[in-house]
Amino acid sequence: MAVAIRQAYSEDIPELVEMINGFAARNLMLPRTPEAVMKTLPDWLVAVERDESGAELLLGCGSLVALTPELAEVRSLAVHERGQGKGVGSLVVENLVALAKAREFSQICALTLREEFFQRLGFEIVDRWSISPKLWQECIYCPKFHRCDEVAVIKHLTVRSREEAAAGRPAAANPLLKWQAWQPLKLAYSYKPIHLDEQ
Ligand SMILES: CC(C)(COP(=O)(O)OP(=O)(O)OC[C@H]1O[C@@H](n2cnc3c(N)ncnc32)[C@H](O)[C@@H]1OP(=O)(O)O)[C@@H](O)C(=O)NCCC(=O)NCCS
Repeated sequence: MAVAIRQAYSEDIPELVEMINGFAARNLMLPRTPEAVMKTLPDWLVAVERDESGAELLLGCGSLVALTPELAEVRSLAVHERGQGKGVGSLVVENLVALAKAREFSQICALTLREEFFQRLGFEIVDRWSISPKLWQECIYCPKFHRCDEVAVIKHLTVRSREEAAAGRPAAANPLLKWQAWQPLKLAYSYKPIHLDEQ
C-alpha cells in the first residue's frame, strides 16, 4: 500500500467529517463540523492511498492545534477502518510531530483512549493537569468532562522542555501551565457534592 501524507484540501472535508463523526457516534472521539475543519484547514493532515493512476483513497487524518505558544495538541486523529493496524495512524502522528517542531512548539500532547499507541511513538503519560490549557479550551464543552476516561500524553520536542520535565518543572516553559494559577480550577473540577442523607 502506497500511503502518502499531505495537507488537507477543502475537497477532503466532507469525507473527513463523515469519518470523524462516525467514530464520534461511537464515543471514540469528539465530532467536528465542516465549518470548524474549514477554518483550521492548514492545520490538518490527511493520509491517502494512491493507486497507479494517482487516484486517492482517504485513509486517515489528524490536526495540530496550538493550545499555547509552547504547547500543541494532536487532535481529531482518525484512521478509516479499512486502513487501521497498518501504521497509518503512526504516520499521521509522526508527521504532526514534525509539523509541531517546524512551527517551533516545545511540547505536543494528546488526550486519548489509546495511550499505548502514543507511548510507542515516544509520548509519555502525564497528569491531565499538565495540559490544563486543553481542559479549559475544549474539555469543558465535552459532555464527558466530569467523567472523562481519557489519558493525557505528552512528548517533549526540545532539549529544554525535556530537561525541565526531568527536573520536575514541567510548567516552567509555559506560564499558562503554572500549577498555582490553575489550583482553584482543579479544586472545582475534583469537587464531589456531599449529600446530607448519606451522612
Ligand atoms: C487510534 C487510531 C488512530 C490508530 O490508527 P492505526 O492506523 O490503526 O494505527 P497504527 O496502525 O499506526 O498502530 C495501531 C497498531 O497497529 C500496529 N501496527 C503498526 N504498523 C503495523 C503494520 N504494518 N502491520 C501490523 N500492525 C501494525 C501497531 O503496533 C499498533 O499497535 P498499538 O496500538 O498496540 O500501539 C485508529 O485506530 C482510529 O482511528 N481509531 C478510531 C478513532 C479514535 O479512536 N481516534 C482517537 C485516537 S486518540
